Amino acid sequence: MSNETSFSHINFVAATAEDYEDVMSISGGIYNGMDYLPFKYHAWLKDPQRRTYLAKCEGKVVGFESFILVDDGTTAVLEGLRVAPWMRGRGVAGLIQKFCLDTLQSNYPEVKRVRMTRAENPPASVLAKYKVISSKAVVSVLIPADQLDTTIKLLESRVNNLDKSKNLSVLGAEEILRFFEESKSREDLLPGGLIVQGWHPFGTHKSNLNLLLKQKIVWMYSHLGDSSGLTASSKATTTSGDSQAYLEGFLSLGTPPFPVPLAEGIYRLDIDMFGNDPFYAKVHVLEQLKIGVQALPAGTGLVCLLFADESLRTEVGQLCEGLTPLYVVKEQMILEMEI
Ligand SMILES: CC(C)(COP(=O)(O)OP(=O)(O)OC[C@H]1O[C@@H](n2cnc3c(N)ncnc32)[C@H](O)[C@@H]1OP(=O)(O)O)[C@@H](O)C(=O)NCCC(=O)NCCS
Repeated sequence: MSNETSFSHINFVAATAEDYEDVMSISGGIYNGMDYLPFKYHAWLKDPQRRTYLAKCEGKVVGFESFILVDDGTTAVLEGLRVAPWMRGRGVAGLIQKFCLDTLQSNYPEVKRVRMTRAENPPASVLAKYKVISSKAVVSVLIPADQLDTTIKLLESRVNNLDKSKNLSVLGAEEILRFFEESKSREDLLPGGLIVQGWHPFGTHKSNLNLLLKQKIVWMYSHLGDSSGLTASSKATTTSGDSQAYLEGFLSLGTPPFPVPLAEGIYRLDIDMFGNDPFYAKVHVLEQLKIGVQALPAGTGLVCLLFADESLRTEVGQLCEGLTPLYVVKEQMILEMEI
């Protein structure tokens, strides 16, 4: 496959395993060292629901983009976009995305919308095409290998609401399926009806559940109303003194830690949170972190990326006070466009 474009010297081809080094050579420094592609590249090539493409100029790799088909094949999620530093600012990103959209329209007519996730302040040209569906606060910290134990102890001392700790359970496949089937829990907890896991926005289609269950994601859920006697409409007082109604329940997804280019022996742990109760948010961060740390190879450290409702930014930040902050992005935005 090879499509010439108006840039007569740029063509698009399917990415292959042999292109790994070339793709890495255009990826230096991306996402402040948090790039997922070095770890995921080969798995992406093997994923039957994903297509991966390169932009080439005079035989050299100058760009990469991919899409994965989700929501029963009706949505394509664009992911992994990058352009070689020496080719930036010349419209290559627009061309490779246009190539993907053209491919979707000609080869996948059942795809009705395209989604992508971006950091804060996406270019105006992107916002002109895509609608913002939802956004979340991002807090990120670096925990070196020799500080993992003391960090967990520190967070334990800050998470001291026993009632709220009691209501937490790790969900198995059956319970996750039930969560997908209960429209009420979805509507309440998932902004825009989307479950965003490790930067991927999924609708709550059962077909996506299979995709999610293939990964070793840790699903945690806290249900209000059990032993604590709280109900969906219960009110609580925030640290700022305001009275606020909290959503029923709190869900978090911990993506199994994977190595990132930031430094040798540094793994990335994403914790995606759904709900707006700050106490539950703290319990979930702590419990997800404990499980994440158990999955780490000996002697490795973590960058922990926490994604939470914007109203939780301050409280999640307070929980992490004293840890090494690491700026990755400030906000996570989900964008969507009908095609
Ligand atoms: C962001 C990046 C891909 C932009 O590439 P570029 O070729 O220099 O972009 P240009 O400004 O020349 O291209 C402009 C076109 O690309 C699109 N574009 C630019 N940045 C974009 C972004 N972050 N996301 C989506 N589209 C983008 C513009 O909408 C425009 O499209 P149009 O021509 O259809 O209007 C490039 O700077 C890069 O590789 N950065 C590092 C990786 C990264 O930050 N990726 C962000 C996506 S997660």
